This record gives sequence, structure tokens and C-alpha cells, in this order.
Amino acid sequence: MNEVSKILMKRKSIRKYSSEPVDDNLLNDLLFASCRAGTTGNMQVYSIIITRSGSIKNELAPLHFNQKMIIEAPVILTFCADFNRFNKWCRINNAEPGYDNFLSFFTASIDALLVAQTFCIAAESEKLGTCYLGTTTYTADKIIEVLKLPKGVVPVATVSVGWPAEDPEQVDRLPLKAVIHNEVYHDYSPDEINFYYKEKEERADSRQFVKENNKQSLAQVFTDVRYKKSDNVYFSETLLSVLKNQGFLK
Ligand SMILES: Cc1cc2nc3c(=O)[nH]c(=O)nc-3n(C[C@H](O)[C@H](O)[C@H](O)COP(=O)(O)O)c2cc1C
Repeated sequence: MNEVSKILMKRKSIRKYSSEPVDDNLLNDLLFASCRAGTTGNMQVYSIIITRSGSIKNELAPLHFNQKMIIEAPVILTFCADFNRFNKWCRINNAEPGYDNFLSFFTASIDALLVAQTFCIAAESEKLGTCYLGTTTYTADKIIEVLKLPKGVVPVATVSVGWPAEDPEQVDRLPLKAVIHNEVYHDYSPDEINFYYKEKEERADSRQFVKENNKQSLAQVFTDVRYKKSDNVYFSETLLSVLKNQGFLK
């Protein structure tokens, strides 16, 4: 296995950081390397907001449901889908941009997520710890205000970055076979589903989760507690209005 594969096999989210700062030059080098990620038509329709300031972190923290990484990590990166810069370039060159639609938001989100994940791998290869915060898409409307994002810009992922102050166990994954389809999609029988999810369901931490939440199955912890329909519907409405306000939907 080569060095990159070894890094990938060992990777895990890190949520606790030491107080040691992340050097600006190192961060810059990692971001520079991350921008080598593939990007649609080489348009680079993303922007990355670096947050180090305590006061901005204090404003962001409640928008990330007070997850402690926001305050404790020395660096917070917000990866944004961004057509603002590209639209401006088009307009000053007498080219009319046609990027005020959902496809363009999706395109820019893909670009932003590719650069985000490339950054995480680059950072982990330097022994930095990273963790995504999925709260970004729940409260994008308010993050837009705090980070002063103009029309055409939508935050899609936040990553906390710092030197690890924990070494957690790696968490499980489904067997590779569960996620791979040869040539065409092979839909799952109930038996296959039970087989693929068995190991996850039988883990001690999963059983504990089910017990703590007074549920009958691990799946119910997801549907009734962690990712509930009512929350999904509510945050979908917020995100749809963000897309309208930022000029990606009519
Ligand atoms: C899009 C995305 C959003 C996430 N949001 C959060 C989050 O809000 N808080 C958190 O503690 N971890 C978050 N995570 C980390 C996941 O919980 C973690 O990747 C998953 O449990 C697998 O663990 P591992 O990364 O250690 O392998 C997120 C990960 C992704 C990719």
C-alpha cells in the first residue's frame, strides 16, 4: 500500500484539538494543494472562508448548534459554492452568465466539496485533525450574514482544523460489497440489507445508542432522533429560500 492509501485507511474525524496554532504558511500550502482538485470546466466556482478570529467564531458557534469544535479548533474553514466571482468575470468581458439556476448551484457545490475533501486529506497527511460540520446547510441563511457572503455564494461545508488532542477509535463502515455495484445497480433484498447492516447493528456502541434513546432499532435512532423528517423538512425550506435569495432559484 502506498503512503496516500495508508493515510486514507487510517483517517478519522478529530473533534478535540490542542491549543497549538496552525501556522499560516502551512495552511496556505495545504489550501494551495487542495485547489488542484478537479473543478467543473476549470471554473473554480468555490470560495473558502478562513475563520481564526474569536469574535467570528463566537457568532458562528450557535449556528453550528454550539458544537465545541468551532470555538476550540484554531481554524474553521467554510467552503462555499460561489458563482459570484465567475459571474463578475463574465460580465466585465461582455459575456452574459446563465448561472442563476439549480444546476449551477449543484455544480458549484460539487466543486466546493471536492476542494474541501482534498483539503482534509492534505491536512491529515500533515497529521492535522479535521471534522466536517453538517450544520452549515441547516443554518446557511445566518452563516451568510456572519461571513458577509454576497449573492451567488452559498456555504455548503464547514471543516474544523487543528492539531489532534484525541486519538479516537476508527468508526465502522459498511462492507465494501454493500456499496459497490458491478456494471448496473443491483437492488437489495431484505436479507442482503440485514446482512450488510448486521455488523453495525451489533456493535456495542450501536446497542448503547439504541438503549440510551429508548428505541427498538438502530435505524429508529436515525429516523426518530438524529435525522428526523420534521427537521429535514424544516431545514429544506430554509435551504430553498437561501437558494432563492442567493440567486440560484426563481
Ligand atoms: C457532510 C458531513 C457532515 C458532518 N457533520 C458533522 C457534525 O455536524 N458534527 C460532527 O461531530 N461530525 C460531523 N461529521 C463527521 C461524521 O460524523 C463522520 O465522518 C462519520 O461519523 C464517520 O466517522 P469518521 O470520519 O471518523 O470515519 C460530518 C461528516 C460529513 C461528511
